[in-house]
Amino acid sequence: MEPQDLNMTTTVTGHQLFLFVTLGEGQPDGELAEAIDLLGRGLENVHEVDGPPSEETFARGRFQLLRAEAGFTTEQQIIHTAVTESDGLIRLECASLDPIKAYETSFRDLLSAAGGSVETLAGVMRPRSYTSHAMSEFAYAHAMPPGPGEKFPLAAVTPMNKTDEWWQMDFLHRESFFLPRYDENEKMVVKGHALASAMGVPSINRRLVHAPEGYGLQGNYDFVGYFEFAEADAPVFREVMAGLRDTEQNPEWKYVLEGPEWWGRRVSSAAEFLGTS
Ligand code: HEM
Repeated sequence: MEPQDLNMTTTVTGHQLFLFVTLGEGQPDGELAEAIDLLGRGLENVHEVDGPPSEETFARGRFQLLRAEAGFTTEQQIIHTAVTESDGLIRLECASLDPIKAYETSFRDLLSAAGGSVETLAGVMRPRSYTSHAMSEFAYAHAMPPGPGEKFPLAAVTPMNKTDEWWQMDFLHRESFFLPRYDENEKMVVKGHALASAMGVPSINRRLVHAPEGYGLQGNYDFVGYFEFAEADAPVFREVMAGLRDTEQNPEWKYVLEGPEWWGRRVSSAAEFLGTS
């Protein structure tokens, strides 16, 4: 379904690609590491950056290398082994698609020559559709800004779809799931998305992309979430996910089908990414 048919914004503010990487048999060599570092030369390495991107670097393109934290990744309803069993991830973002698409194409060539493979999840960044000024203040104004890999070494990726039933709902009905619900005596009976996850606002940096071609389609997740946080805040992230998945507190999740919850560790160089350093 198209965003305009859902009362959702049609504006695109940026592009992201998630390249899930499976390495080939045998030990990757220093030459491959050098070639990957070279690919990133024109882009900004997000690993070193404190705060949001400048307009110039976002226009140029940015990347973050991550090694899989395999023990933490979990399968959810949608089985996707190319993601679950990947060795690492390169997250790319840019104001326009071309620079990061060029990176993806060259990276794929490098990897397949080395006997590996790449699974790409793509998404577009959009302004928020359901958020009032007051919700902005509650959920975003005090949200933790992005920080360097040293400070926030862990990251989680949460691809997901919403069901056909969700996309058939009127937008006011859909919007109501983000807020608490109250009974006839104004007693809160359900927390809703924003309150169920509120404890993550000060300590989890969050980004979200939407399916590029419209929602409810085959071949692309409706949403891909990306979260960065400090080692000490990993339990907070787990609690936030548990809160969202608790359909008594957050009935929205009755309409969610999740891909794998993928965990990784941010690294600064291709040698660390490939494990050759
Ligand atoms: C940490 C605290 C969080 C808060 C306060 C929060 C709040 C919100 C709000 C207010 C929206 C509506 C955005 C709009 O206006 O379009 C939203 C959307 C969304 N959030 Fe969260 N969220 C949090 C964490 C998470 C987490 C951990 C996930 C994990 C998967 C997640 C997944 C989503 C998705 C997929 C949407 C888009 C839903 C749709 O448009 O149907 N959120 N969130």
